[in-house]
Amino acid sequence: MSIERAAERLARAEHVLVVTGAGISAESGIPTFRGEGGLWRGLHAQDLATPEAFRRNPRLVWDWYRWRRGVCNEAEPNPGHQALAELERRAPDFLLLTQNVDGLHPRAGSQRLAELHGCIDQARCTICGAITHLDELQDGDDGLPSCSCGGLARPHILWFGEAYWEGTLDVGYAFAARADLVLVVGTSGMVWAPAAVADQARRAGAFMVDVNPNPSELSDAADLWLRGPSGVVLPELIRRAWS
Ligand code: OAD
Repeated sequence: MSIERAAERLARAEHVLVVTGAGISAESGIPTFRGEGGLWRGLHAQDLATPEAFRRNPRLVWDWYRWRRGVCNEAEPNPGHQALAELERRAPDFLLLTQNVDGLHPRAGSQRLAELHGCIDQARCTICGAITHLDELQDGDDGLPSCSCGGLARPHILWFGEAYWEGTLDVGYAFAARADLVLVVGTSGMVWAPAAVADQARRAGAFMVDVNPNPSELSDAADLWLRGPSGVVLPELIRRAWS
């Protein structure tokens, strides 16, 4: 059975790389980007999470992020997030790369973690570049978050079409070179960089396991595809690996 094979590999692995996407938070009630429920007032994430959308209508983009932040902050980590925090405690060497900005991995206890696309609770000044927790920012006269320098703040999130922040991916590629197992969870694999780090690990010899109820861009390349929701599959995988 696939899950048995994956559990055996996991129990033996020294360097475990995990790449997660929106799907791991689906069971916490946070809509994925490309799945059903990814619409807000009839708009797709792809229409809102862009520098052009923010230039055109910062209020609309902030309204969406305020809504999304509320959804994220009210959500709770699910058994999939908790299983990865447990895996971090058990694996000799571990790194979690997430595309998610919802903060559920750190809230579940993950520490060896890189949030590649930023964090829903943070804003960045469009003028001076200062990064600040949203709770510490006042709204300007226009009702939008304003930096202490007076500049308009934007969500500190990597948007479609933007380059990764300098150094963000380096830690992932460095780990990929030594990983012996790479677990890809809840991502369509359509954003090239996280998928490329996972693929780099595979090509360097890591055993690749994809956890997803649907086929992803990475399922074919993976050594094993564990088909199912991550909140069910991951706890079962950990249980079998260390039973
Ligand atoms: P997507 O919305 O593209 O894909 C979500 C994936 O989760 C799909 O493959 C689903 O099949 C899968 N899925 C759904 N429910 C699941 C469950 N219960 N358990 C496991 N998997 C499940 O989201 P991402 O791949 O994360 O980036 O998209 C990556 C990036 O797209 C986002 O981080 C965002 C956007 O561009 C930026 O904003 C820069």
